[in-house]
Amino acid sequence: MENLISLVNKIQRACTALGDHGEESALPTLWDALPSIAVVGGQSSGKSSVLESVVGKDFLPRGSGIVTRRPLVLQLHRIDEGREYAEFMHLPRKRFTDFASVRKEISDETDRETGRSTKQISSVPIHLSIYSPNVVNLTLIDLPGLTKVAVEGQPESIVQEIENMVRSFIEKPNCIILAISPANQDLATSDAIKISREVDPKGERTFGVLTKIDLMDKGTNAVDILEGKSYKLQFPWIGVVNRSQADINQSVDMIAARRREREYFSNTTEYRHLAHRMGSEHLGKMLSKHLETVIKSRIPSLQSLISKTIAELEAELSRLGRPVATDAGGKLYMIMEICRTFDQIFKEHLDGVRPGGDK
Ligand code: GDP
Ligand code: NA
Ligand code: MG
Repeated sequence: MENLISLVNKIQRACTALGDHGEESALPTLWDALPSIAVVGGQSSGKSSVLESVVGKDFLPRGSGIVTRRPLVLQLHRIDEGREYAEFMHLPRKRFTDFASVRKEISDETDRETGRSTKQISSVPIHLSIYSPNVVNLTLIDLPGLTKVAVEGQPESIVQEIENMVRSFIEKPNCIILAISPANQDLATSDAIKISREVDPKGERTFGVLTKIDLMDKGTNAVDILEGKSYKLQFPWIGVVNRSQADINQSVDMIAARRREREYFSNTTEYRHLAHRMGSEHLGKMLSKHLETVIKSRIPSLQSLISKTIAELEAELSRLGRPVATDAGGKLYMIMEICRTFDQIFKEHLDGVRPGGDK
């Protein structure tokens, strides 16, 4: 199954690389058919922090105010061995091994599109891949935070623009939503819950994540929420404790942060009984498991889509005439190759999803 998820990742990348050309074929449909996970919530609710903890790496710009100003499509690839590295789609073949420079490249690339002096946003995604022995295969999308008012230097329309951008990602039926709500604000005011309920009323693809549990008012706790008593979701709520701004300023590392998070849940009287299903590591494992289930259930429909894509690509290639010397032709061959591999793997896995197959 690991195999299958990484192949899904490859197809997603190939679809993007194909760019304009994809519009003439079934590829955009194919892209939409593949599951991904998007992080939504109010500004500074802890979205980027949650993504970082799931990945187990420091590489995202974080902080107060609007820091994430373009969607970041992040693909995690598990490799068996070797040193971990990152690659941006806009900088092909450049390997980043220093994750501080990944963070810098994300902000520089954000500025290139939106302009440095503004608080502008752009819906053009940044594509980043991380290859590491320490990650699970996942595609994650970090999104700008939902806001209520435009700040100095932003047009009034920005509130609606952000909402529309976020919705355009999470309304896709195959998008798994990580709805981030900070525990130190009333859940009734949660932007994450509001917008995810809109696009996923039954909560079939929404995971509720409660951040900033360590920042709640003394005398209050999140037990009712985490136990699903105050707001019930299809999937159980997961509480996390991310690094505070002070931790970030003091460069508290991820390993220390995760250890502290674990200790927080197991050493706090109210949460001890929930500790086994709290925290970023648990969230990561659960997401990976869920993604596998989703992919497995979609194999038959993806398979027919792939066959259709192969047929269309073949038709297009013969229209272009062979041998194809153009760049577009090369890309078509590449994607067709991937589709064929995909098709092959589907066939191998099909036994497992037919009624009477493995349970
Ligand atoms: P985003 O705007 O939703 O992406 O939020 P960020 O991840 O950038 O976090 C905003 C600020 O909240 C940063 O200063 C984080 O350090 C802080 N923060 C996020 N989650 C937690 C948490 O669980 N506990 C504490 N104490 N601070 C957090
Ligand atoms: Na922020
Ligand atoms: Mg952010």
